[in-house]
Amino acid sequence: MPSPSPILTGIQSTGTPHLGNLLGAMLPTIHLAHTHPQNQIFCFIADLHALTTIKDPEKRKTYIYTIAAAWLALGLDKQPNALLCRQSHIPAVTELAWYLSCLTPYARLTNAHAFKDKTQQGLPVSGGLFTYPILMAADVLLYQAGQVPVGKDQLQHLELTRDVAQTFNQQYGNTFVIPEAYIHRDVPTVLGIDGRKMSKSYQNTIDVFLPEAQLYQDIMRIQTDSTPLAAPKDPETCTVFALYRLVADAHQVEAMRAQYLAGGYGYAAAKKTLAAAILERFASARERFANYMSDFPALEQRLLEGEEKARAVATETLQDVRTKLGYERALRSG
Ligand code: ADP
Ligand code: TRP
Repeated sequence: MPSPSPILTGIQSTGTPHLGNLLGAMLPTIHLAHTHPQNQIFCFIADLHALTTIKDPEKRKTYIYTIAAAWLALGLDKQPNALLCRQSHIPAVTELAWYLSCLTPYARLTNAHAFKDKTQQGLPVSGGLFTYPILMAADVLLYQAGQVPVGKDQLQHLELTRDVAQTFNQQYGNTFVIPEAYIHRDVPTVLGIDGRKMSKSYQNTIDVFLPEAQLYQDIMRIQTDSTPLAAPKDPETCTVFALYRLVADAHQVEAMRAQYLAGGYGYAAAKKTLAAAILERFASARERFANYMSDFPALEQRLLEGEEKARAVATETLQDVRTKLGYERALRSG
């Protein structure tokens, strides 16, 4: 029987993973690893993608270890079927990205949201940002991933990945598995402290790995409306409640909803309850994260092990692709 298709996801190394990354992509991936012990799980640190925003090499190194530490602290270290690797350590990915770029219509890339957002804001756009979705497609297709756990914002990239895989398969014969996005049904787009989508690029994130006092401070900054303390409040339009719903259990959520509706319950109290719930939910991950962050050599070792396995799969796919395109097979692995 053929082995089941791998499950794969990537997180850019552009900072400490925030609550949106954890709930939208990382925890669903770890859950899938647990429920699918037969599948190989690839967790990528998208450090080449991060080059589109992070310019400082020292920061780049630290962020790579930060993402690795977060993955392991959240429970990836307990999954024998999961591996952790840096995109930059698998050169096959940039070669495949070139081949795929030659099959991707220009108009498709001008519609990609990262590119569109930046051009609309009048910000400078590099060729790297423009072709960003193709590098992501190469990440996914190189490992023949069947499922890709991501937040909703990545659906457009996944569509492009599927289309370019189909184009390649039609032109050169069956080569790539057509991947599917796996969106965790209970997790909507997580809101940031300003009420927009939580994102490192909006600087509106909640970093659950921060020291307690700082975490409280950030949560107290969540924007709320000006309903007076005594008045009833609408839980459905409040960012604090929306976040609480994602981290507290059903019973606690109903209790907070009742307090909102009754009035006499202020946003400051709701924020404190939210902060306490986050600290409780991530208590063990926070401790484990601090331990991993004090041991970079252990993280490095873990990454090297993952990269060796990833390279073997990547080389096999790339050789097939090269043969189909009429190039010599690669002479050495990489
Ligand atoms: P950011 O937008 O902060 O730079 P990334 O682009 O690195 O985050 O996202 C990594 C993963 O986390 C992706 O699968 C993405 O869909 C998911 N993700 C990011 N922000 C959110 C959010 N606010 N809600 C749910 N998932 C998210
Ligand atoms: N583009 C994704 C993001 O911005 C990160 C990413 C890179 C990724 N490679 C991937 C996600 C492969 C899933 C699969 O969040």
